[in-house]
Amino acid sequence: MPDINKIREDFPILKRRREDDGKPFIYLDNAATSLKPIQVIEAVVNYYEKHCANIHRGVHTLSQEASQLYEEAHDKVAKFIGAKNREEIVFVKNTTEAINYVAYGLNWKPGDEIITTVMEHHSNIVPWQLIRDRFGVKIKFLDLKDKWYLNLEQLEDLITEKTKLIAVVHVSNVLGTINPVEEICKIAHEHEIPILIDGAQAVPHLPVDVKKIKCDFLAFSAHKMLGPTGVGALYIREGLGEEMCPTFGGGDMIRRVTLEKSEWNVMPWKFEAGTPNIAGGIGFGAAVEYLEKLGMEWVRNHEKELTKYLLERLHEIPKITVYGPEDVEKRGGVVAFTVEGLDSHEVAMYLDELENIAIRSGVHCAEPLHMKLGIPSSARASVYIYNTKEEIDIFCDTLEKVIKELT
Ligand code: ALA
Repeated sequence: MPDINKIREDFPILKRRREDDGKPFIYLDNAATSLKPIQVIEAVVNYYEKHCANIHRGVHTLSQEASQLYEEAHDKVAKFIGAKNREEIVFVKNTTEAINYVAYGLNWKPGDEIITTVMEHHSNIVPWQLIRDRFGVKIKFLDLKDKWYLNLEQLEDLITEKTKLIAVVHVSNVLGTINPVEEICKIAHEHEIPILIDGAQAVPHLPVDVKKIKCDFLAFSAHKMLGPTGVGALYIREGLGEEMCPTFGGGDMIRRVTLEKSEWNVMPWKFEAGTPNIAGGIGFGAAVEYLEKLGMEWVRNHEKELTKYLLERLHEIPKITVYGPEDVEKRGGVVAFTVEGLDSHEVAMYLDELENIAIRSGVHCAEPLHMKLGIPSSARASVYIYNTKEEIDIFCDTLEKVIKELT
């Protein structure tokens, strides 16, 4: 059983104290990005200090070492999500870029249709709007049902012969809702439609196995799962990558180039044009190793416990409305709320000022969902492996104080 105090020791930022009053940071903005453990920081530094060279471009020792570390990071990420091998794992910049790779990699025809949902992050809406405007594709939206859940009954009605892709979020970054992605993939496959899962808020927090889910694409970011910023992954089911167009052309993604035409490299390098984020990729591998050591079952259970406690405490505070499922079996550790009479940014600013507490405020890149909920914005606390009940107590006590004083 991992020891939470030992885990906290691994995160240098948790040792930092605020200059004026010596208060520690209470970091509850994990859905935006996670903190980084020393093991990840050291993996990045180690590449720069000991193995700094470009990959796949040199016969010299440093390049061979860097290539090996970078390739092994793909293997670690592949294993982490149950992919067959590194050929199914393309390193990209982040989830947004991963989704754009799919958007620009498929061969769209006017009249093709994409089904997504009203629960999505902008990353899983805006790329489709761009594709719509460029190729004359139609976007359809799956609505909500019972407040916080997707209306799956509507899915069959939205599917037509022209549906070219279904793109759905696994865990909502506002409601915390865990969508039944296995069931959605099953429906998609019954109609022979490829399916993309936005795993940005799922892969860092739950055991995710692509073989079990049976998705065609899975997009996620390293920085939300202890890894560096500027790197993420796109899982592309074996066989599909060969059919897709490379999104970017340039170095390393080719096997042969003449002035007339080019032949593509094998997967996953076909999609990794130019010098990639080598240090970030190696750090991503270290992050995945760290999470594997803890065990994703433990991560999920720890978050369930914290989320249950957080929800209980929030319900005791007057003037608060919480959004998302009550049942922690059906939700992740992202908890959005509003305070009657206070703007979400005001709430976040006071928490920061009084007790050095970090939460997110605004629409969390999910403006259509906020419109659907009928609120201009929300405050959002989100937990991760290093958070404790004591931190949640300080957060809730301070929130109560802010509400008492300001409303
Ligand atoms: N997508 C991240 C969030 O929801 C940035 O906060």
